[in-house]
Amino acid sequence: MSLPRRQFLKGTAAASAGALVAGGLTPSRASGEPPARRAASATTPIIITSHENQTGQNAVEEAWSILADGGMALDAVERGANIIELDPEDMSVGMGGLPNDQGVIQLDASIMDGRTYNAGSVAALENTVHASSVARLVMERTDHVMIVGPAAREFADSFGIPEQDLMTDRTRQAFLRWREAHSENDDWGPPDHLITQGGEQGGPGSGAGAPSSPEGGADFTYGTTNVLAVDANGDVAGITTTSGLSWKINGRIGDSPIIGAGLYVDNDVGAAGATGRGEDVIKSCASFYIVMRMREGRSPQEACEDAIQLIVEKYRNVNPDFVPPEKFVAINKAGEFGCAWMGISGTPHMSVRNGDGLLVYEGTASLQPQG
Ligand code: GLY
Repeated sequence: MSLPRRQFLKGTAAASAGALVAGGLTPSRASGEPPARRAASATTPIIITSHENQTGQNAVEEAWSILADGGMALDAVERGANIIELDPEDMSVGMGGLPNDQGVIQLDASIMDGRTYNAGSVAALENTVHASSVARLVMERTDHVMIVGPAAREFADSFGIPEQDLMTDRTRQAFLRWREAHSENDDWGPPDHLITQGGEQGGPGSGAGAPSSPEGGADFTYGTTNVLAVDANGDVAGITTTSGLSWKINGRIGDSPIIGAGLYVDNDVGAAGATGRGEDVIKSCASFYIVMRMREGRSPQEACEDAIQLIVEKYRNVNPDFVPPEKFVAINKAGEFGCAWMGISGTPHMSVRNGDGLLVYEGTASLQPQG
């Protein structure tokens, strides 16, 4: 999701309240867009991703073949995450992810294996497209959970993972536009005497290939993807991988590599993952909270809505207008799934693949604090 940060901080709840979708599981709509919008029953194996776009659908479809062959959830989520990390058009994950305020792409990722109660993560990892696979190496080849910064890149080096420039032309143009637009109190941009009332002449982003979407301006983008799976053996695994908040302060680490925040897996229960403003997700330990709610008997859909509610209630006394932009996805061992967000723009979606086929599932948005 993408929005101007200061506009976002003022809140948009009142203006958008008409888009409220009542709580509970919203059935997918028939739209003639195969394979989306078909109902799917709760069944395992299952794999989901918070990415509902074509790349997300491709990712779960390809990863499904691992599960259909009796393979491990852990391998399936890595396959799915790797596909999304490779998409250069996606400016929130892996290749082509938006950089920090220094123009450097720093990736965060985590992985958790319910079968072994093991986890690994990397943060502020540079020049490495498959951050999720490096996180898996941390999990499987060390007795640690988290390796960060230049040491994470050195760790990848030690396994022979080649460095790769993740900057695409589209990403660079977006950064250059942001750098010139985000403040009037610096010297980025053309000389003052060349700026006319109608706008500057020929600035970055005015050329071919420049993004025309809000992503290319001074907006902040919270991207990220979660990939969660249950295999035929009933084992649960998950990955969260991201380039993080666009234009973040150099070295800022979000929720994605923090076990319990951006990702949590419990082999007795299921898994949950978060996208959106990582600071809210870290403070609320949201993925852990969702899984614990499922442990208490809540469905994945209800548990995701519970986490939204938890965060809303925390902010209500501080700033009632604040609209936290998180999206949560979850699955349980029975193959049920759900997703929810506050409703910055419409309703949230996720890609789901199980024995019934491929589904783009529509979750719920809740724009006003309830209760
Ligand atoms: N959820 C991604 C981030 O905040 O970095």
